[in-house]
Amino acid sequence: MKWFKKKAVQPGAIALDRSPDKLPRHIAMIMDGNGRWAKQRALPRTAGHRAGMETLETIIRACDELGIEALTVYAFSTENWARPKEEVAMLMNLLVEYFEKKIDELDRNGVCIRILGFEEQTPSRVREVMERACVCTRDNKGLKFNIAFNYGGRGEIVQAAKRFALDVAKGNVQAEALDEDGFGRYLFTAGLPEPDLLIRTSGEQRLSNFLLYQLAYAEFVFTDVYWPDYTKEEFFRSIAIYQSRSRRFGGV
Ligand code: FPP
Repeated sequence: MKWFKKKAVQPGAIALDRSPDKLPRHIAMIMDGNGRWAKQRALPRTAGHRAGMETLETIIRACDELGIEALTVYAFSTENWARPKEEVAMLMNLLVEYFEKKIDELDRNGVCIRILGFEEQTPSRVREVMERACVCTRDNKGLKFNIAFNYGGRGEIVQAAKRFALDVAKGNVQAEALDEDGFGRYLFTAGLPEPDLLIRTSGEQRLSNFLLYQLAYAEFVFTDVYWPDYTKEEFFRSIAIYQSRSRRFGGV
Protein backbone atom coordinates (compact mmCIF):
# COMPACT_ATOMS: atom_id res chain seq x y z
CA MET A 1 0.00 0.00 0.00
CA LYS A 2 1.22 3.47 -0.82
CA TRP A 3 0.93 6.34 1.58
CA PHE A 4 0.48 9.76 0.15
CA LYS A 5 1.53 12.73 2.16
CA LYS A 6 -1.00 15.54 1.89
CA LYS A 7 0.47 18.91 1.03
CA ALA A 8 -0.50 21.42 3.69
CA VAL A 9 -1.96 24.74 2.61
CA GLN A 10 -0.43 27.18 5.05
CA PRO A 11 -2.20 30.41 5.82
CA GLY A 12 -0.17 33.21 4.33
CA ALA A 13 1.96 31.04 2.08
CA ILE A 14 0.36 29.72 -1.10
CA ALA A 15 1.39 26.15 -1.78
CA LEU A 16 0.01 25.92 -5.29
CA ASP A 17 0.75 22.78 -7.30
CA ARG A 18 1.03 23.88 -10.92
CA SER A 19 1.04 20.41 -12.47
CA PRO A 20 -1.79 20.30 -15.04
CA ASP A 21 -3.43 17.23 -13.52
CA LYS A 22 -3.67 18.99 -10.15
CA LEU A 23 -5.19 22.20 -11.50
CA PRO A 24 -8.93 22.59 -12.17
CA ARG A 25 -9.71 22.32 -15.89
CA HIS A 26 -12.68 24.62 -15.61
CA ILE A 27 -13.23 27.35 -13.01
CA ALA A 28 -16.62 28.99 -12.45
CA MET A 29 -16.65 32.35 -10.76
CA ILE A 30 -19.34 34.40 -9.01
CA MET A 31 -17.83 37.90 -8.96
CA ASP A 32 -19.73 39.24 -5.95
CA GLY A 33 -19.28 42.27 -3.72
CA ASN A 34 -18.82 45.14 -6.20
CA GLY A 35 -21.62 47.15 -4.60
CA ARG A 36 -20.38 46.68 -1.03
CA TRP A 37 -16.81 47.48 -2.08
CA ALA A 38 -18.07 50.78 -3.49
CA LYS A 39 -20.22 51.52 -0.45
CA GLN A 40 -17.22 51.03 1.85
CA ARG A 41 -15.52 53.81 -0.09
CA ALA A 42 -18.60 56.05 -0.34
CA LEU A 43 -18.56 55.56 -4.11
CA PRO A 44 -21.51 54.79 -6.39
CA ARG A 45 -22.16 51.06 -6.92
CA THR A 46 -21.19 51.51 -10.54
CA ALA A 47 -17.62 52.36 -9.45
CA GLY A 48 -17.51 48.91 -7.89
CA HIS A 49 -18.47 47.28 -11.19
CA ARG A 50 -15.78 49.25 -12.99
CA ALA A 51 -13.17 48.16 -10.44
CA GLY A 52 -14.50 44.62 -10.85
CA MET A 53 -13.77 44.77 -14.55
CA GLU A 54 -10.08 45.31 -13.74
CA THR A 55 -10.09 42.33 -11.37
CA LEU A 56 -11.51 40.22 -14.16
CA GLU A 57 -8.54 41.10 -16.33
CA THR A 58 -6.14 40.02 -13.57
CA ILE A 59 -7.91 36.69 -13.20
CA ILE A 60 -7.97 36.02 -16.95
CA ARG A 61 -4.19 36.62 -17.03
CA ALA A 62 -3.69 34.33 -14.04
CA CYS A 63 -5.73 31.59 -15.74
CA ASP A 64 -3.60 32.01 -18.83
CA GLU A 65 -0.41 31.79 -16.76
CA LEU A 66 -1.58 28.54 -15.14
CA GLY A 67 -2.86 27.05 -18.40
CA ILE A 68 -6.45 26.71 -17.11
CA GLU A 69 -8.67 25.38 -19.91
CA ALA A 70 -11.90 27.26 -19.15
CA LEU A 71 -13.12 30.15 -17.01
CA THR A 72 -16.82 30.95 -16.72
CA VAL A 73 -17.86 34.17 -15.01
CA TYR A 74 -21.34 35.24 -13.88
CA ALA A 75 -21.61 38.74 -15.36
CA PHE A 76 -25.37 39.29 -15.35
CA SER A 77 -28.19 37.01 -14.28
CA THR A 78 -31.76 36.85 -15.57
CA GLU A 79 -32.70 38.26 -12.13
CA ASN A 80 -30.32 41.23 -12.42
CA TRP A 81 -32.77 43.10 -14.70
CA ALA A 82 -34.64 43.93 -11.48
CA ARG A 83 -31.80 46.22 -10.32
CA PRO A 84 -32.25 50.00 -10.53
CA LYS A 85 -32.53 51.17 -14.14
CA GLU A 86 -29.37 53.30 -13.90
CA GLU A 87 -27.28 50.39 -12.60
CA VAL A 88 -28.51 48.07 -15.37
CA ALA A 89 -27.77 50.74 -17.98
CA MET A 90 -24.28 51.27 -16.55
CA LEU A 91 -23.57 47.52 -16.54
CA MET A 92 -24.61 47.34 -20.21
CA ASN A 93 -22.32 50.28 -21.03
CA LEU A 94 -19.49 48.65 -19.13
CA LEU A 95 -19.92 45.41 -21.05
CA VAL A 96 -19.86 47.22 -24.38
CA GLU A 97 -16.78 49.15 -23.24
CA TYR A 98 -15.14 45.94 -22.08
CA PHE A 99 -15.60 44.22 -25.42
CA GLU A 100 -14.57 47.25 -27.43
CA LYS A 101 -11.43 47.87 -25.37
CA LYS A 102 -10.23 44.37 -24.55
CA ILE A 103 -11.17 42.22 -27.49
CA ASP A 104 -7.95 42.75 -29.47
CA GLU A 105 -5.75 41.93 -26.52
CA LEU A 106 -7.81 38.85 -25.61
CA ASP A 107 -7.68 37.75 -29.23
CA ARG A 108 -3.88 38.24 -29.43
CA ASN A 109 -3.56 36.06 -26.35
CA GLY A 110 -5.55 33.24 -27.92
CA VAL A 111 -8.62 33.62 -25.67
CA CYS A 112 -11.80 32.12 -27.11
CA ILE A 113 -14.91 34.01 -25.95
CA ARG A 114 -18.35 32.51 -25.63
CA ILE A 115 -21.55 33.95 -24.18
CA LEU A 116 -23.80 31.71 -22.10
CA GLY A 117 -27.34 32.98 -21.70
CA PHE A 118 -30.60 34.02 -23.25
CA GLU A 119 -30.73 36.46 -26.15
CA GLU A 120 -34.11 37.93 -25.20
CA GLN A 121 -34.04 41.33 -23.48
CA THR A 122 -30.37 41.94 -24.31
CA PRO A 123 -30.03 45.39 -25.91
CA SER A 124 -29.01 45.06 -29.55
CA ARG A 125 -25.78 47.06 -29.13
CA VAL A 126 -24.67 44.65 -26.37
CA ARG A 127 -25.64 41.66 -28.50
CA GLU A 128 -23.67 43.04 -31.44
CA VAL A 129 -20.37 43.54 -29.58
CA MET A 130 -20.74 40.15 -27.93
CA GLU A 131 -21.38 38.44 -31.25
CA ARG A 132 -18.40 40.19 -32.81
CA ALA A 133 -16.17 39.09 -29.92
CA CYS A 134 -17.32 35.48 -30.23
CA VAL A 135 -16.91 35.33 -34.01
CA CYS A 136 -13.52 37.04 -33.92
CA THR A 137 -12.09 34.67 -31.25
CA ARG A 138 -13.91 31.42 -32.01
CA ASP A 139 -10.91 29.62 -33.56
CA ASN A 140 -8.51 30.60 -30.77
CA LYS A 141 -6.97 27.71 -28.88
CA GLY A 142 -6.15 29.39 -25.56
CA LEU A 143 -8.34 30.00 -22.52
CA LYS A 144 -12.03 29.33 -23.08
CA PHE A 145 -13.54 32.42 -21.52
CA ASN A 146 -17.27 32.12 -21.02
CA ILE A 147 -19.38 35.04 -19.94
CA ALA A 148 -22.71 34.12 -18.38
CA PHE A 149 -24.88 37.04 -19.43
CA ASN A 150 -28.66 37.14 -19.01
CA TYR A 151 -28.10 33.68 -17.59
CA GLY A 152 -30.22 31.65 -15.18
CA GLY A 153 -29.60 28.00 -14.33
CA ARG A 154 -33.22 26.90 -13.96
CA GLY A 155 -34.19 28.68 -17.17
CA GLU A 156 -31.30 26.97 -18.94
CA ILE A 157 -32.46 23.52 -17.79
CA VAL A 158 -36.08 24.24 -18.79
CA GLN A 159 -34.97 25.50 -22.21
CA ALA A 160 -32.82 22.38 -22.68
CA ALA A 161 -35.80 20.17 -21.79
CA LYS A 162 -37.97 22.03 -24.31
CA ARG A 163 -35.35 21.71 -27.04
CA PHE A 164 -35.01 18.03 -26.35
CA ALA A 165 -38.79 17.52 -26.38
CA LEU A 166 -38.98 19.30 -29.73
CA ASP A 167 -36.22 17.07 -31.12
CA VAL A 168 -38.19 14.02 -29.95
CA ALA A 169 -41.40 15.38 -31.52
CA LYS A 170 -39.58 15.92 -34.82
CA GLY A 171 -38.25 12.37 -34.69
CA ASN A 172 -34.61 13.52 -34.54
CA VAL A 173 -33.88 11.64 -31.30
CA GLN A 174 -35.43 8.95 -29.12
CA ALA A 175 -36.56 9.87 -25.61
CA GLU A 176 -35.32 6.55 -24.19
CA ALA A 177 -31.81 7.19 -25.50
CA LEU A 178 -31.30 10.36 -23.44
CA ASP A 179 -28.45 10.23 -20.93
CA GLU A 180 -26.64 12.89 -18.85
CA ASP A 181 -24.04 13.65 -21.52
CA GLY A 182 -26.75 13.87 -24.14
CA PHE A 183 -28.76 16.30 -22.03
CA GLY A 184 -25.61 18.39 -21.52
CA ARG A 185 -25.54 19.04 -25.25
CA TYR A 186 -28.76 21.05 -24.94
CA LEU A 187 -27.26 23.37 -22.31
CA PHE A 188 -25.46 26.67 -23.00
CA THR A 189 -22.24 24.97 -21.86
CA ALA A 190 -22.37 22.22 -24.53
CA GLY A 191 -18.87 21.00 -25.32
CA LEU A 192 -17.23 22.45 -22.21
CA PRO A 193 -15.82 20.30 -19.42
CA GLU A 194 -17.82 20.51 -16.18
CA PRO A 195 -16.48 23.10 -13.73
CA ASP A 196 -14.16 21.52 -11.14
CA LEU A 197 -14.13 24.58 -8.94
CA LEU A 198 -16.66 27.28 -8.11
CA ILE A 199 -15.35 30.41 -6.42
CA ARG A 200 -17.66 33.03 -4.92
CA THR A 201 -16.26 36.22 -3.43
CA SER A 202 -17.74 38.59 -0.83
CA GLY A 203 -18.66 36.11 1.90
CA GLU A 204 -21.98 35.00 0.38
CA GLN A 205 -22.38 31.23 0.24
CA ARG A 206 -25.07 30.41 -2.31
CA LEU A 207 -25.36 29.50 -5.97
CA SER A 208 -27.76 32.24 -7.07
CA ASN A 209 -29.07 30.14 -9.97
CA PHE A 210 -25.59 29.68 -11.49
CA LEU A 211 -24.71 26.53 -13.47
CA LEU A 212 -27.10 24.36 -11.42
CA TYR A 213 -26.69 21.29 -13.65
CA GLN A 214 -22.98 21.70 -14.32
CA LEU A 215 -21.75 22.21 -10.74
CA ALA A 216 -22.95 18.80 -9.54
CA TYR A 217 -19.44 17.67 -8.52
CA ALA A 218 -17.57 20.96 -8.33
CA GLU A 219 -15.66 21.97 -5.22
CA PHE A 220 -16.95 25.23 -3.73
CA VAL A 221 -14.52 27.81 -2.38
CA PHE A 222 -15.91 30.92 -0.70
CA THR A 223 -13.84 33.93 0.27
CA ASP A 224 -14.82 37.03 2.23
CA VAL A 225 -12.87 39.31 -0.11
CA TYR A 226 -15.02 41.61 -2.27
CA TRP A 227 -14.52 41.01 -5.99
CA PRO A 228 -12.68 44.30 -6.71
CA ASP A 229 -10.16 43.38 -3.95
CA TYR A 230 -9.70 39.80 -5.19
CA THR A 231 -6.07 39.52 -6.30
CA LYS A 232 -4.02 36.99 -8.20
CA GLU A 233 -2.67 35.82 -4.81
CA GLU A 234 -6.22 35.32 -3.48
CA PHE A 235 -7.06 33.41 -6.64
CA PHE A 236 -4.04 31.13 -6.18
CA ARG A 237 -5.11 30.65 -2.57
CA SER A 238 -8.59 29.58 -3.74
CA ILE A 239 -7.00 27.05 -6.10
CA ALA A 240 -4.70 25.80 -3.33
CA ILE A 241 -7.80 25.19 -1.16
CA TYR A 242 -9.33 23.24 -4.06
CA GLN A 243 -6.13 21.18 -4.28
CA SER A 244 -6.32 20.36 -0.57
CA ARG A 245 -9.76 18.74 -1.03
CA SER A 246 -10.27 15.06 -1.64
CA ARG A 247 -12.62 14.63 -4.62
CA ARG A 248 -14.43 11.32 -4.55
CA PHE A 249 -17.32 11.87 -6.97
CA GLY A 250 -19.60 9.79 -4.79
CA GLY A 251 -17.03 7.00 -4.39
CA VAL A 252 -14.84 6.30 -1.37
C1 FPP B 1 -22.21 41.28 -8.28
O1 FPP B 1 -21.86 42.26 -7.32
C2 FPP B 1 -21.68 41.67 -9.58
C3 FPP B 1 -22.39 41.82 -10.73
C4 FPP B 1 -23.85 41.61 -10.80
C5 FPP B 1 -21.77 42.28 -11.97
C6 FPP B 1 -20.44 41.69 -12.28
C7 FPP B 1 -19.83 42.53 -13.30
C8 FPP B 1 -18.54 42.85 -13.39
C9 FPP B 1 -17.48 42.32 -12.51
C10 FPP B 1 -18.16 43.83 -14.46
C11 FPP B 1 -17.31 43.31 -15.53
C12 FPP B 1 -17.81 42.09 -16.22
C13 FPP B 1 -17.56 41.82 -17.50
C14 FPP B 1 -17.88 40.50 -18.04
C15 FPP B 1 -16.95 42.82 -18.38
P1 FPP B 1 -23.03 43.07 -6.59
O2 FPP B 1 -23.33 44.28 -7.39
O3 FPP B 1 -24.20 42.15 -6.37
O4 FPP B 1 -22.35 43.44 -5.24
P2 FPP B 1 -23.08 43.55 -3.81
O5 FPP B 1 -23.59 42.18 -3.50
O6 FPP B 1 -21.97 43.98 -2.92
O7 FPP B 1 -24.16 44.57 -3.94
